[in-house]
Amino acid sequence: MGQNFKLYSQYYDLLYRDKDYVAETAYLIGLLDKYHSKGNKIIELGSGTGKHANLLAEKGYQILGIEQSSEMVEIANQNKKEGVSFQIADITDFRSNISFDIAISLFHVISYLTTNENLIKTFKNVHQNLNRDGLFIFDVWHSAAVHFQIPEKRTKILRNQNIEVTRNANPVIYPELNVVEVNYDITVNDLKDGTIQSFKEQHPMRHFSRPEIELLAYATGFELIHNEEFLSQNIPTVETWGVCYILKKL
Ligand SMILES: C[S@@+](CC[C@H](N)C(=O)[O-])C[C@H]1O[C@@H](n2cnc3c(N)ncnc32)[C@H](O)[C@@H]1O
Repeated sequence: MGQNFKLYSQYYDLLYRDKDYVAETAYLIGLLDKYHSKGNKIIELGSGTGKHANLLAEKGYQILGIEQSSEMVEIANQNKKEGVSFQIADITDFRSNISFDIAISLFHVISYLTTNENLIKTFKNVHQNLNRDGLFIFDVWHSAAVHFQIPEKRTKILRNQNIEVTRNANPVIYPELNVVEVNYDITVNDLKDGTIQSFKEQHPMRHFSRPEIELLAYATGFELIHNEEFLSQNIPTVETWGVCYILKKL
């Protein structure tokens, strides 16, 4: 896990350039309104290249992003808006002297926590850094979809004026662990000088059911107040890959 997002970080924004961060941020702000969130101080777990953080800052929020990949933070720092800061740390054991009104963790960051121990440590950390009644909002892989759809090999190719990136994803399923290990083979073709660079990354992803998150919330001082399909707000089904959970600190 320590090596995750090291080389991948350079191609992250290209691989996800079609991801609608503006719509996702509007969706998140809609949830904050709907569940009567108060205050504007946000802690973001796994802030990546800082896209959500910058958009939230434009809406008047102050954000501290916790991100373990120094390479991702380096990219995030290049475009940082006022009111945004990043800390290179592991979300399982970060420390902050500030208390926050809201905690968020978007695009399956919590699914990167594959052990119960790391999940409990992270939720307890969030609890410690949140004000009373603070919301914790995150999206994770959905067990029902993994069981019914079964992840398969996939290829994604994206190019800009300089490079073409081919990413082959080869999943290995561990049914007893609720984990899918996604093995990425990435080839980067430099379109200017014709050189080719290849590397591998392993992303073990945990998937969750609602009762599992409910239990985790209960064990760490939160109440699960709602879950829904991320962005569409639909009730999760076997077709739903990403489920958004809204927890409140008790
Ligand atoms: C799929 S990316 C999502 C990034 C960003 N939230 C977004 O929506 O673009 C997952 C991010 O979580 C970070 N991450 C995963 N596990 C982490 C951990 N234990 N502590 C801190 N960051 C972590 C990775 O380094 C990566 O930047």
